[in-house]
Amino acid sequence: MTISITWLGHGTLSLDVDGTTILVDPFLDSNPVATKSITDFDSLDYILVTHGHMDHIADLIPLAQRTRATVVGMIELTDWAEKNGVPNTHAMNLGGGWDFPFGRVKMTPALHSSSLPDGSYGGDPAGFLLTVDGKNIYIAGDTALFSDMALIGKHSLDLAIIPIGDNYTMGPEDALTAVADYLKPKAVIPVHYGTFPVISHVDVGAWEQAISEQTQTQPILLSINETYTL
Ligand code: NI
Ligand code: MN
Repeated sequence: MTISITWLGHGTLSLDVDGTTILVDPFLDSNPVATKSITDFDSLDYILVTHGHMDHIADLIPLAQRTRATVVGMIELTDWAEKNGVPNTHAMNLGGGWDFPFGRVKMTPALHSSSLPDGSYGGDPAGFLLTVDGKNIYIAGDTALFSDMALIGKHSLDLAIIPIGDNYTMGPEDALTAVADYLKPKAVIPVHYGTFPVISHVDVGAWEQAISEQTQTQPILLSINETYTL
């Protein structure tokens, strides 16, 4: 089984799991660094959403309507999506997992906030632990550092995708601690940096070097639209 993960910019990822297509946190048309648009996605099987902020759901409704993809997210968020005309949803909550045809998705806690564009409560923010063909992939979503990441790290992670941009989420120092002390993944992909001025000061090269020198983890710096294959 082949799992490929493409960084589309900010927190937006597209995954291909043996032909099943999954988009995470669709923020494309208004994303300053993304070059893909919703019109590039004619078919999509699933859309995973970590929380309700605009930089994670800006294109969710039109994309889900256009592709009829199943939107997977926190129950308050999927309820909102349904009210806004999304045809297929799968509601979850923290700590729960579900076996989808492509693999298991477990919703993990994130230390952040979540509100929806109409001001309604988005439920708790989340991350996802994907178990696909025996491989464990952790997508942290927007989060601060928290020591319970150690519980996620117990799953012997093949890959962690974590924010390092600072200001809204963990910065490089806390992201290094997350990798070194708690998650201990085989590989890490940093995201949620470089999109807006306030998260563009991060020295990603220095962070990459620190990960290489101070941890057993392989840092993987993707360019926009670059793919990492597991
Ligand atoms: Ni956010
Ligand atoms: Mn965000």
